[in-house]
Amino acid sequence: MAERIDGKAIAAGVIEKIKTATAELNTAKGVVPGLAVVIVGDDAASHTYVAAKGKRAKECGFHSVQVTLDADTSQADLEKVVGELNADPAIHGVLVQLPLPVHLDEFPVIQMIRPEKDVDGLSIVNAGKLAVGDLKTGLISCTPAGAMILVRSIHGDDLSGLNAVVVGRSNLFGKPMGRLLLQANATVTMAHSRTADLASVCRNADILVAATGRAEMVKADWVKPGATVIDVGITRVPAPERGEGRTRLLGDVDFAACEPVAGAITPVPGGVGPMTITMLMANTLIAAYRAAG
Ligand code: GUN
Repeated sequence: MAERIDGKAIAAGVIEKIKTATAELNTAKGVVPGLAVVIVGDDAASHTYVAAKGKRAKECGFHSVQVTLDADTSQADLEKVVGELNADPAIHGVLVQLPLPVHLDEFPVIQMIRPEKDVDGLSIVNAGKLAVGDLKTGLISCTPAGAMILVRSIHGDDLSGLNAVVVGRSNLFGKPMGRLLLQANATVTMAHSRTADLASVCRNADILVAATGRAEMVKADWVKPGATVIDVGITRVPAPERGEGRTRLLGDVDFAACEPVAGAITPVPGGVGPMTITMLMANTLIAAYRAAG
């Protein structure tokens, strides 16, 4: 049976360090890290995530701002809000919750966030720094940064000689995850929906990272015996067995089938999920430290 990687416990440990460092920054420089989250429209899942980000920011001792805009907000009005947050010295991190309503173009909005406040690591500057291996001066996307902490909890810092397969190639996760694994010396394969014989590509992985967006897509015969499996998926499905109207979360990995094959595996929930918000706090703290000089 695989070791279960306890993302909740690892995240709680990181949060404690962030709280301590936040208090130290405040004492030394009089600076309180400030995080602004912008949400447009009323998508229920997005509002749940954004509320969780604000709650955790306050727990860490941050100044937390949520800007909620109507679903019919114009591109110009959204960009005006981002411009104001860019200029606000009390705000060190700006995050625009995605996806945006379909009439809005997310690319120019994300790219106008000042790179030093881009706590999602989505700006071309931050993505480029990661691509050239500069992990010291940029900000790295929260979910891959958190997933790497879970990988390191099993394999340590040096992944030399290990094959890593990332399934999924989004800017928010797959691409930065592949770059982080490469930077840690893994031999990386970036697989995706157009990859031929995905199962056999995955079976070659010592570290298999699934971000397909398809619930329970990764089956037991996709997993090399003893491999580390990192599940980035979260799909909410009806769970009538839990009572009427109840739901539950499924990952991209068929957990029950893969657990006996893998060497280590992240559960859903309680694996990568708790790491994402934690790394958002870490990025905001880093941005505040840099701004404080
Ligand atoms: N929507 C789902 N995950 C994320 C994330 O990490 N950042 C942003 N901005 N939006 C998201």
